Amino acid sequence: MKIVCLGGGPAGVYLAISIKLRNPDHDITVYERNQPADTFGWGVVFSDQTMDNLRLNDSVSARAITDELIRWDYIDVHLNGRVERSGGHGFIGIGRRRMLEILYERARQLGTELVFQYEFEAENIRTEFADADLIVAADGLNSKIRNSDLKGFDTDIDLRPNKFVWLGTHQRFDDAFAFFFEKTTHGWVWAHAYQFDRDTSTFIVECRPQTYDNWGFEHMSHDQSAETCRSIFQQHLNGHQLLTNSRHIRGSAWINFPRVLCHNWIQDNLVLIGDAAHTAHFSIGSGTKLGFEDAICLADNMHSGRPVPEALQAYQNERELEALKLQSAARNSMSWFENVPRYIEAFDIKQFTYSLLTRSQRVSHENLRLRDKAWLEDFEKILAARAYGKPAAQPVPPMFTPFRLREMTLQNRVVVSPMSMYSAVEGVPSDWHLVHYGSLATGGAGLVYTEMTDICPEGRITPGCAGIWNDEQEAAWRRIVDFVHCHSGAKFCLQLGHAGPKGSTQVGWEAVDEPLDAGNWEIIGPSAVPYSTVNQLPRAMTRVDMDKVLDDYVAAADRADRAGFDMLELHCAHGYLLSAFITPLLNRRSDEYGGSLENRLRFPLEVFHAVRKTWPGHKPMAVRISANDWHGAAGITPDAAVLIGNAFVEAGADIIDVSAGQTSPDAVPVYGRMFQTPFADQIRNEAGVPTMAVGNIYEIDHVNSIIAAGRADLCCLARPHLMNRAWTLRAAAEQQYHGPGVTCPVQYLSGFEQLERNLKRAAQMAINA
Ligand SMILES: Cc1cc2nc3c(=O)[nH]c(=O)nc-3n(C[C@H](O)[C@H](O)[C@H](O)COP(=O)(O)OP(=O)(O)OC[C@H]3O[C@@H](n4cnc5c(N)ncnc54)[C@H](O)[C@@H]3O)c2cc1C
Ligand SMILES: Cc1cc2nc3c(=O)[nH]c(=O)nc-3n(C[C@H](O)[C@H](O)[C@H](O)COP(=O)(O)O)c2cc1C
Repeated sequence: MKIVCLGGGPAGVYLAISIKLRNPDHDITVYERNQPADTFGWGVVFSDQTMDNLRLNDSVSARAITDELIRWDYIDVHLNGRVERSGGHGFIGIGRRRMLEILYERARQLGTELVFQYEFEAENIRTEFADADLIVAADGLNSKIRNSDLKGFDTDIDLRPNKFVWLGTHQRFDDAFAFFFEKTTHGWVWAHAYQFDRDTSTFIVECRPQTYDNWGFEHMSHDQSAETCRSIFQQHLNGHQLLTNSRHIRGSAWINFPRVLCHNWIQDNLVLIGDAAHTAHFSIGSGTKLGFEDAICLADNMHSGRPVPEALQAYQNERELEALKLQSAARNSMSWFENVPRYIEAFDIKQFTYSLLTRSQRVSHENLRLRDKAWLEDFEKILAARAYGKPAAQPVPPMFTPFRLREMTLQNRVVVSPMSMYSAVEGVPSDWHLVHYGSLATGGAGLVYTEMTDICPEGRITPGCAGIWNDEQEAAWRRIVDFVHCHSGAKFCLQLGHAGPKGSTQVGWEAVDEPLDAGNWEIIGPSAVPYSTVNQLPRAMTRVDMDKVLDDYVAAADRADRAGFDMLELHCAHGYLLSAFITPLLNRRSDEYGGSLENRLRFPLEVFHAVRKTWPGHKPMAVRISANDWHGAAGITPDAAVLIGNAFVEAGADIIDVSAGQTSPDAVPVYGRMFQTPFADQIRNEAGVPTMAVGNIYEIDHVNSIIAAGRADLCCLARPHLMNRAWTLRAAAEQQYHGPGVTCPVQYLSGFEQLERNLKRAAQMAINA
């Protein structure tokens, strides 16, 4: 078979090696525009696992690379004249040039033809290489081949705002990967630095676009940029220069990272690999690894005996998923670096470091314990001391630290998120609710929410929704509240709501959000805009309607206090009445309640003020918002959510419960683990407002790392509690923790102790296995 590989970077040359190893008879030529010693960039970082994969594929080149690897264990974070060191991170690095030299030599040895200083043009390749059975586009980040047909490759390129420049230095950073954060007169500038051979280190400098403009880097030559960066970081460089080898980049040496995602990697007998197909932000150091692993996978499939089209499709199917997983971690990491000033301003160096180390969400709390137990336990003690207001003798899992809101102290940070049960009769909670909330409260969570409980009959979502507009409902709730207070350590929060344009629909296990088959009632909203094409058209509210809703909210809040609830939440999310006022998707009013965000917030804030006035001053109030309509600029964006959160806190809210979406059936959410937590993080750390995170938080590690990294103050879990009411007690047993913050009903203590023993034994067996 005749194979041409266009691009002689790590992906292209490693493909040639991998193909030749599997079948030496293939005729392979690699075309590269540069000379062998001409490459851009400095060092690259790998993990031990990547080296294991390379060793399995080709022990010869892996051995040659291993002989030259530099290893280090620590990560040092330099901030404001202080250094925070943590260990156990285990990186390995090598110079990009040396790595390519090794691979070129190995490829030649196996019979590959390498053609240097040969620049192809995308439009010519089909004629130039017409006799090739396979054309591999390995031409990197700015792939001409991919860019010549972005549509055909179904390409999505997102040019990120930060600027960075890849520099080198002869300053050594012997045993640590170092991050330097420098506050300059033009804004924060930071560097990612690590040594990759005996006397050279990579030094990547990064900053936000405003800082880049303020410094005037755009107009500097490559040498001037390097010199300016040297002056910024001189205290860490010990008299050494910063060096540039990116002459191939025209104009400024600084670039914006392009996040490349191709949904199709194949055109006939042409296939993309490496950066041509996908990019992963440099801050997780995985681009080269992805390129190598693509090469191994493509070679395997080409050797499988299947026809070429099938082999190529199998390659894409396998690699696309792997690339997506890494790209998702890389996106988290990239987004952290895009918001560095937010975290520097919000955190001390220890929490800042924790936040940096866990930024990709691939390194979890327990993973950090494995890396550096002493560092993590020290941090856990600091967090506990902060929460208790006195030094902590022992480390405490972050989820079991207390949290205070006005005069209410939660024993831990786990919250049972509000969940409609659709099981009330005429709005009256039943025995189902007593058992449901009773068992959730005895399950150990610090705070238990009721479902959305409505202020009037026409404010219900469904006929099965609970309410609090009459004496019978108030009494039924009081019975449940009494049980929770008598038998558990949980606090109990009532979520108050009015369904607005999403009212009069079927219960959750029927056709959700769709009108009733019979017996629909009139619904109201800010405007006569239906939630979807199948929903009823709401009547646009008049001032009289607004006054009635205000009165109903106040009356319901009074009843909630009399029923004994500890906390109240105003439901301003998910497209229900108050949310419908906030989102421009459902609010089209032209009076002072529509138009600008300030106007759209006016009625929800009027309600909030009225309720806050009647709700006792010592009891806290939360507001749940949809922080993202997932509708681009046409809807609420996370930036707008910061303003919304701030407005409610200024009005007296104690915490913002940060949900997202459900304001439009056409929304395009990006799901994943903890997918809404970034919004809680942004609101908390930009507006300086306490937040609760919710949405696909289901593991112990999720909760501990969200709390410890300061992404939110409380974590709400909904669905996990439906299948495991004692989620929090199990989490305590799993962490072998039974100190403050854990309340197990005495009736269940023997079960807790047995579970703790069994889980300890299982953990021990897993270590010994
Ligand atoms: C600042 C920075 C730091 C990084 N750090 C790391 C790290 O620590 N670890 C890691 O794993 N990855 C890292 N990466 C990513 C890594 O460099 C890339 O993912 C990797 O190089 C991709 O390999 P590739 O072979 O697909 O593309 P490239 O390495 O870009 O190779 C493409 C090759 O094609 C050649 N070419 C392009 N067009 C033509 C043409 N028309 N004619 C002929 N030849 C052509 C180019 O000259 C080049 O040699 C980093 C990237 C950056 C920007
Ligand atoms: C059965 C069910 C009912 C829900 N009812 C409500 C509700 O009444 N009020 C509310 O704000 N959110 C409600 N939600 C949303 C949850 O509170 C939570 O935000 C969402 O399920 C994401 O969290 P999870 O991934 O932990 O399930 C409900 C979710 C479920 C699964």
